[in-house]
Amino acid sequence: MQSFKEKVVVVTGGASGIGRALANAFLEEGAKVVISDVEKTALDKTATELAAKGGVVRAVVTDVSKPESVDALADAVFSEFGACHVLCNNAGVSVPNNNVWDTTPNDWQWVLGVNLRGIAHGVQAFVPRMLESGEEGIIMNTSSGDGGISPLADQSVYASSKAGVSIMTECLNAQLVGQESKLRACIFYPSGGILPTGIWTTRRNRPAELAREKPAPEGAEMTFDEFMEGMKQIGVDLPVQDLDELARFALDGLHQGDFVIMIGRESMEDTLVERARKLARGECPIEHGLHA
Ligand SMILES: NC(=O)c1ccc[n+]([C@@H]2O[C@H](COP(=O)([O-])OP(=O)(O)OC[C@H]3O[C@@H](n4cnc5c(N)ncnc54)[C@H](O)[C@@H]3O)[C@@H](O)[C@H]2O)c1
Repeated sequence: MQSFKEKVVVVTGGASGIGRALANAFLEEGAKVVISDVEKTALDKTATELAAKGGVVRAVVTDVSKPESVDALADAVFSEFGACHVLCNNAGVSVPNNNVWDTTPNDWQWVLGVNLRGIAHGVQAFVPRMLESGEEGIIMNTSSGDGGISPLADQSVYASSKAGVSIMTECLNAQLVGQESKLRACIFYPSGGILPTGIWTTRRNRPAELAREKPAPEGAEMTFDEFMEGMKQIGVDLPVQDLDELARFALDGLHQGDFVIMIGRESMEDTLVERARKLARGECPIEHGLHA
């Protein structure tokens, strides 16, 4: 898409982290931005701060795991603006590192409900109306290298959800191209370094009815600051990726019409080739704790 000026952009999970940075970047390019999030207080605060910089910002409380909530978001967007040109299905959550056999039914229900089914709900609510408009549009789904490219063994729930996001997006884009529509879908893999987002305190988003059935393993949850301090203590100095820069990179990818948007995308080739080789030889492509 050449320009986002006056275009209508919806960002789920827009109250914090990557979603907030994406909303800010779209606003800087002159778009009208609707941020949606399950956390009302954080959403209102972000909307106020973004609006103070100028431009059109709306906030709609939405739980992407609930189809009726995402339908209500689409109704709000189309009734006020009559269009949606860019849908960023970005909301996401995660559970503590664990053995697969120690994950719980609620771990799967929560994470797949938000990360994977949440994106399906977004596509179901918005794409028919975006198609009907006949206008150019993009659906950008936030996946993760963890699962979307190769999984971390201890993050089976999250990685499975993100593998699903990448596969769903491939199917969606192929169908949109096949229909000769003016819509396209793309995958966004946030990368470039450690990301200082709210995902480190993701359990704040976990609803009481999907609480973990047993305590998380000790040390499996830590804040961004605790993680960085731990790394420093063992002499590892990890690069931190600026979120505004990441968001601007994502918008550049959208301008260019890239199907895969990822800082350092070139590095994916070696990983995937090695993965394919091991699978074709009948071997497990990852080792414990390693991003193969
Ligand atoms: N942070 C990373 O290292 C990283 C890496 C790769 C991919 N991602 C993905 O990026 C996306 C954004 O995550 P982030 O890192 O900015 O974390 P974040 O916690 O800062 O942002 C996620 C947002 O989603 C919202 N949310 C959670 N459940 C929701 C629900 N049911 N309905 C609507 N909104 C909900 C949260 O309130 C939060 O504002 C996620 O999909 C995440 O999986 C993050």
